[in-house]
Amino acid sequence: MNKVIQVNKKHLSAQTKTNQSSTALQFEKTLIEHAKKELSNILDSIPLFIALIDKNHNIVRLNMPMANALGMHPRELVGQKCFEFCHKTREIPDSCPHKRAMEEGISVTVALFEKNLGGHVEVTATPFFDPDGTLIGSIHVVRDINKRKKAEEEKEEIISQLLQAQKLEEVGRLAAGIAHEINTPSQYVASNLEFLKESFDEISPLVNSCAKLIQATSHGDSTESIFSEAEKALEDTDWEYLREELPLAISQAQEGIDRVTKIVRAMKEFSHPGPKEKTYQDINRIIETTVTISKNEWKYVSDVYLDLQEDIPPVYCIADEIGQVILNMVVNAAQAISEKLGENPEGAKGSISISTEKEKEYAKIIVKDTGTGIPEDILNRIFDSFFTTKEAGRGTGQGLSIAKDIVEENHDGSISVTSVACEGTSFTIRLPFNDSAQRD
Ligand SMILES: Nc1ncnc2c1ncn2[C@@H]1O[C@H](COP(=O)(O)OP(=O)(O)O)[C@@H](O)[C@H]1O
Ligand SMILES: [Mg+2]
Repeated sequence: MNKVIQVNKKHLSAQTKTNQSSTALQFEKTLIEHAKKELSNILDSIPLFIALIDKNHNIVRLNMPMANALGMHPRELVGQKCFEFCHKTREIPDSCPHKRAMEEGISVTVALFEKNLGGHVEVTATPFFDPDGTLIGSIHVVRDINKRKKAEEEKEEIISQLLQAQKLEEVGRLAAGIAHEINTPSQYVASNLEFLKESFDEISPLVNSCAKLIQATSHGDSTESIFSEAEKALEDTDWEYLREELPLAISQAQEGIDRVTKIVRAMKEFSHPGPKEKTYQDINRIIETTVTISKNEWKYVSDVYLDLQEDIPPVYCIADEIGQVILNMVVNAAQAISEKLGENPEGAKGSISISTEKEKEYAKIIVKDTGTGIPEDILNRIFDSFFTTKEAGRGTGQGLSIAKDIVEENHDGSISVTSVACEGTSFTIRLPFNDSAQRD
């Protein structure tokens, strides 16, 4: 009897244990279910597209906002190839961040235009490991960046309008100087033409007499009187002098015309709106043009020295914009030199040196002057929009901020400055020869 009771006791305690563990299991199951529900509710309430993609590009899980954007229920999408539904393509696109995340085991972010996901989006694929550390896929988080893109486009548009406005302002300001620059060679063209006219009047009688003499001789007429007429005409015409001076006058007039042509061409190149898109450009020519049209800005206070590397490769750029950057630099340099020379420069001119050089995949341009220099305490503010140390009318504080935008934002380059107060300033601009797509 005792034995039976003992056995039953044993049995009962085992039964209790089994009951207890199945309750615990049930409880754990409920907790897991609860946690799963919580997780999917959280994921569905996040206003981002979130998906878990396995190594083979199959969708393992995705949140409701993403499924809604794709116009399907999450159940229909699980197990499908992500690229077929997100990018509507049968092949893995080159830009796929998942591919790289899988290959390199790092988090990869790319900006894409994806109509199916609402336009401009930024996708981050973060590698996902199972508990034993095996890479099994990536978590995709997709952000809508349409607003950011629009703001960027608007900013670009405003910058481009600002650029155009500043350029027109510069053209207006340079116009008076350019008229003056054209005036000087025009004057010596005019005086040489006057000399040619007078010389023609002087030579005419001599040529007429010679023609008469030739005619009479060929007809066998008497030539005596015509001969002495020609002799007199030769005496009256200071031919020895004219023979030397006439070619000089002609070449001087030609030089004058060449000079005018060069200025007009430079002005046309500068003010004419060139291509808005980037094209391969001769950076040295842009610099020469800019120096020519701005001559009146610097010639009273400075000499300009060019040291341009002849075989420098063409630069993929918007010529107009780079011309504007160089002009801003040259005008700043001339103004700094003029300020240093003060009211009474006594002929002691400063210097502006511009050099170009190939430095790896960049064209390096240095604009150096012997002006006032920039005090250290303002050196980090000079690129700020509207920062100026000049009186109204002379400075607007936009030159360098525009230059920085053009070089760094529009051309993927860099601009830096070094300066020693009272000694001078040197700006270094680096512009990539090729656009970023070709460089990568
Ligand atoms: N070459 C230079 N030498 C000395 N100071 C300079 C030079 N370039 C720029 N700066 C300083 O940077 C400021 C901002 O230049 P910028 O943006 O071109 O505006 P602005 O010329 O209209 O003042 C100038 O006011 C001046 O103080
Ligand atoms: Mg300026």
